[in-house]
Amino acid sequence: MENEKYILDVQNATKIFGGLKANEDISFNVKYGEIVGMVGPNGAGKTTLFNSLSGAHKLTYGKIIFDGTDITKMEPHSVSMLGIGRTFQIPQSLNNMTVFENVLVGALGKAKNMKEAREKSMEVIELCGLGKHQNDMTGMMNVIQKKRIEIARALATEPKLLLLDETMAGLTNTERVEAVELIRKINKMNISIITIEHVMDVIMTVSDRVVVINTGHLLMEGTPQEVTSNEEVISAYLGGAKSA
Ligand SMILES: Nc1ncnc2c1ncn2[C@@H]1O[C@H](COP(=O)(O)OP(=O)(O)OP(=O)(O)O)[C@@H](O)[C@H]1O
Ligand SMILES: [Mg+2]
Repeated sequence: MENEKYILDVQNATKIFGGLKANEDISFNVKYGEIVGMVGPNGAGKTTLFNSLSGAHKLTYGKIIFDGTDITKMEPHSVSMLGIGRTFQIPQSLNNMTVFENVLVGALGKAKNMKEAREKSMEVIELCGLGKHQNDMTGMMNVIQKKRIEIARALATEPKLLLLDETMAGLTNTERVEAVELIRKINKMNISIITIEHVMDVIMTVSDRVVVINTGHLLMEGTPQEVTSNEEVISAYLGGAKSA
């Protein structure tokens, strides 16, 4: 085990697409039990980093240690089995299946049998407030419900670390309050979280620490207070962020 304090230790993460350095030399870590907010303007490289962390693509250079294991070269299925769950910025729902079936897909990887998979699915569907929709076709759900299905499916894989990619975009104030409550509930289940959001007040409310990415680089990391009072962060945001 390289560092027992951290559930995630990212070292010099670099991802190059052709001539584009989408991530360059990004190093940061997540402590066990922490909620880390990730912010940065459009195109900064946040989703690219999640893709590397979840094994969807491989780093060009750098290292990712998760829960004491080097996962840098692992495939998505193995990363999921080890305990990293993720949602997708654009929901990846299977529209011609029910909400329950979509979540079951997540549960099948780790559950010992179908009964256990069904029970786990039911439990996370309830937790995500989708109980009354479990038998509805996913294609009929709105974007906000689809984002909750994403969270439920990720939770069904029984993650130790959950990566949330803009699960609150487009929510009303009331819905945001509910979403923050859900994140806190998940965190209390001993699940560490990295959440990407553009909505600064949500990030400030929910995060123990904030990581700021700008033009593929780590601009800074610190407490929500440290980050919001940093001049460079303010100008990066005024320079390019979309509004909430
Ligand atoms: N598979 C890919 N192939 C080529 N370029 C890519 C690929 N994925 C991402 N990029 C590029 O990498 C850069 C970072 O994109 P990324 O999606 O990581 O940004 P982001 O911070 O998530 O932005 P947003 O806030 O808009 O979601 C962009 O210039 C994007 O076009
Ligand atoms: Mg993104």
